[in-house]
Amino acid sequence: MNVLSLFDGIGTGKFILDCLKIENKYYFSEIDKNCVELVSSKYHDAINVGDVTKIDYSKFPRIDLLLGGSPCQGFSFSGKHKGFVDDRSILFFEFLRAFIVLKPRYFMLENVNMKTDYVNKISDYIGLRPIVLCSSSISAIRRKRLYWTNIPFYGLRGTPKKIVEILNSSVFFKDITNKYIEIKEDTSYWKKTRANTISLEGQAFSLTTNCMSMGNNGFSIIKCKNKYYSLSIQALEILSGYPENYTFGYSDAIRANMIGNAWQVDVVKQILSGVCNTK
Ligand SMILES: C[S@@+](CC[C@H](N)C(=O)[O-])C[C@H]1O[C@@H](n2cnc3c(N)ncnc32)[C@H](O)[C@@H]1O
Repeated sequence: MNVLSLFDGIGTGKFILDCLKIENKYYFSEIDKNCVELVSSKYHDAINVGDVTKIDYSKFPRIDLLLGGSPCQGFSFSGKHKGFVDDRSILFFEFLRAFIVLKPRYFMLENVNMKTDYVNKISDYIGLRPIVLCSSSISAIRRKRLYWTNIPFYGLRGTPKKIVEILNSSVFFKDITNKYIEIKEDTSYWKKTRANTISLEGQAFSLTTNCMSMGNNGFSIIKCKNKYYSLSIQALEILSGYPENYTFGYSDAIRANMIGNAWQVDVVKQILSGVCNTK
């Protein structure tokens, strides 16, 4: 099938379709040079169609599956709530343009949890309501997202996991005890870091585009036997459902950013599996 993945990031759509053995000709739109390089080097037959705002769909083949997770900063509860006027979130209308012009057989639009007003507006444009799914119900990381899709889907199958079940080697943890105990009490940073401290029996917090804080990328800080640990980049990849070192070749900051932006693979895989199950 012909697939167009807008705002493609690190090629999660391609990775999942290949895992599911769904034959695909993969067109992707992305402007971040590191993401483009990563996807092009991993998937030699994937075709980069560049900036989404400049795509001329009159020259496009039939698209069977349209994918996209448009930039979410204006919609996110943690952002400035500029909504559709945010110059990144406005790119949702580029998804809409492709959706209207290409009339794909299947589509999936992903975005963050957002104000009801925004959800309603997007749903009106797309013509259906989103499914709300949190990866914590089938993995060891929390990522609550909205999915507008016409792919047949009957709910996530699986059970919640603990970090210790997924990350079973000490190589995924970096000892940051000294740094952790130096944080001044009652500062906002102290409160935030305490709030992000969990045990190995817990689940990692949702990654953000800026998940570099304590140590390497200690968005979630793990407490174990009076020691404190941050998660390695490889741990973030595995928790997000990617193979270890999927983003190898870039600095930790860039890799954390790529993974923080990306889909949770286990969840999207279950959604996209409906594509092959449908005649
Ligand atoms: C939220 S991320 C999507 C990540 C992707 N779903 C994944 O799993 O990796 C949004 C992406 O949109 C890209 N983007 C921003 N402006 C764009 C544009 N004008 N054309 C194409 N991609 C763009 C960003 O570089 C970023 O990688």
